[in-house]
Amino acid sequence: LANGVARTPPMGWNSWNHFQCNVDEDMVKSTADALVSTGLAALGYRYVNIDDCWGELERDKKGNLNAKASTFPSGIKALADYVHAKGLKLGIYSDAGFRTCSKKMPGSLDYEEQDARTFAEWGVDYLKYDNCYHDGSKPHIRYAKMSSALLKVGRPILYSICEWGQEDPAKWAGRYGNAWRTTGDINDTWGSITSIADQNNIWGRYAGPGRWNDPDMLEVGNGGMTMEEYRSHFSIWALMKAPLLIGCDVRAAGTSTLRILGNKEVIKVNQDPLGVQGRKIRSNGGLEIWAGPLAGKRAVVVLWNRSKSEASISVRWKEIGLSPNTPVIVRDLWAHKFVSMGKQYGITARVAPHACKMYILSPPKTK
Ligand code: GLA
Repeated sequence: LANGVARTPPMGWNSWNHFQCNVDEDMVKSTADALVSTGLAALGYRYVNIDDCWGELERDKKGNLNAKASTFPSGIKALADYVHAKGLKLGIYSDAGFRTCSKKMPGSLDYEEQDARTFAEWGVDYLKYDNCYHDGSKPHIRYAKMSSALLKVGRPILYSICEWGQEDPAKWAGRYGNAWRTTGDINDTWGSITSIADQNNIWGRYAGPGRWNDPDMLEVGNGGMTMEEYRSHFSIWALMKAPLLIGCDVRAAGTSTLRILGNKEVIKVNQDPLGVQGRKIRSNGGLEIWAGPLAGKRAVVVLWNRSKSEASISVRWKEIGLSPNTPVIVRDLWAHKFVSMGKQYGITARVAPHACKMYILSPPKTK
């Protein structure tokens, strides 16, 4: 959607993966503080997104949504002011049905314009819009209504369509929103991230500036996977131009977690101005090559070992669209160094199980 936002994939934090319904204003404020103090905000993680369960059980007499008095006593506007004062943006959540997925709040179906106005008055910058408990009508009809409502409020609001990939949203959601989920919910396991990566991969050609496939929020730092697995998760999400929404408790994140989420070189791949989603080029017994073009005639390539043992993975330049004899400069984005090139036609690396290597290939500078 050309509404001026999400020209590169959205970056920030969302409460759901770690906190589920245990959300309150102090937690959200201290998370905003932590995004700034860890340096993550300066790297681009600017959206602070509250997921489900922020509101009262029912609308008030005027039909308005209200923040839950027991957990958000100061209200959403005060929270937005707090977050904005730190140079960050506030995101909120609703549903294209009668109840949200937790059932703990009303959804926005039939209240689209009223709720969009409320969100704008509060200073909300991002809406994640879920798909539970609706009237059975087609999602593109319900999602279009909120889209036009948001376009009328006079405030740019990033619109994230959370339809879980049921009716091939890649085919229609770019007309209405800035991102759309392509799969069911992620969880903090290797099985989940490998299967989601494959499902999201097939929709690559529909992505571009202002419209992104969304393979769901990051699990990095939540404890269910090894650091190598989290590095693979983050590398592939970055290459696929996924929204990079941190899903852990940033206030408690350790140095290895921060080193993954804070890898500038990987973030730059995700935020590349060309905005082309990288894709799986080849897979052989769990040894995979993923690659895509970047601005400046560069390319990114990930050698991903999904097998159970260490292995050598090779890629030839011609497989990823470079001519076989071009000299290229190879930068390793996790080792943070240039790799010296023995051979001109490709690269081979030893990769630990469930780990990956990630490189940027650039043409040598010409004078
Ligand atoms: C759905 C969404 C999740 C989360 C929950 C909240 O399952 O896909 O991302 O928003 O609802 O209830």
